[in-house]
Amino acid sequence: MTIYDRILTEKEFVHQNDLQYPFEERGLQFGDGIYEVIRVYQGNYYLIDEHVDRLYRSADAVKINVPYTKDQMYHYLDQLLKVNEVKSDAKVYLQITRGSAPRDHTFPLDTSANLYAYVKDLPRATDWMRDGVSAISHPDVRWDWCYIKSLNLLPNVLAKQEAKEQGSFEAILHKDGEVTECSSSNAYLVRNGKVYTHPARKNILHGCVRIAVEAFCKKEGIEFVEEAFRIEDIEYADELFLTSSTAEVMPITKVDERTIGDGTPGKITRTLQKCYEEDAKISAEQSLFKHV
Ligand code: PDD
Repeated sequence: MTIYDRILTEKEFVHQNDLQYPFEERGLQFGDGIYEVIRVYQGNYYLIDEHVDRLYRSADAVKINVPYTKDQMYHYLDQLLKVNEVKSDAKVYLQITRGSAPRDHTFPLDTSANLYAYVKDLPRATDWMRDGVSAISHPDVRWDWCYIKSLNLLPNVLAKQEAKEQGSFEAILHKDGEVTECSSSNAYLVRNGKVYTHPARKNILHGCVRIAVEAFCKKEGIEFVEEAFRIEDIEYADELFLTSSTAEVMPITKVDERTIGDGTPGKITRTLQKCYEEDAKISAEQSLFKHV
């Protein structure tokens, strides 16, 4: 899978082999940073405004000074695709850490942030989206501020690894019996024609695709209920699905040993997948250098 070799940094574009940080770097030592994963379709960003807004919200929440204004951020993100001549379906990974400084829990206020962003090809997971995937249930042991897209992902990493070791795609996280989200995606349950998902509070990541899904539901006349469902409600689910920038709208057809519905992706999930595809196509056509 191609990683395009021109990397955006806080100062300039560099070749991937020239990217270097000192070992006393706060992202490396404390996970003291934030990130975004942005979807690209045929060389165009999808949901870019939502990602850029969330990036700045995360930065504010942890008092990191982003080295670019928002306008500069749009400009450099566009440049990243241009200098690499990206034409494919891909993802951009962007992270900003508090910077490099002698190791100390407190941080010097004048540290300048380290930023890098790179592009990697990412074909759409069309087979899984067609057939559905399985998931495991897993306790949510993360902190209370998961709306911040922070680099501290150890609980997410361990939960997803557990899912993988059990032959599953995702881990559905639950706290005190309530489903919050998944290890790297948002979770939804469909019952009697309504879509239920955890409210966008501080304890989940406010997914960019979640925002899109809410709009798709509105457009299709499907009720979107921001109400947490419980892990035992999965037994009565007509459909389950998850969303993320990399997995899009992904049907879940099995959780632990339980089959969901008739074991195939449900009607509402299919409708939302279709909306996503149309929206991504329209947005790719319209997004060409919109912000430059
Ligand atoms: N993860 N919840 C969590 C915990 C996530 O890590 C993600 C995204 C989402 C979905 O957010 P969005 O719709 O904005 O992609 C929800 C990315 C893909 C990742 O960390 O790789």
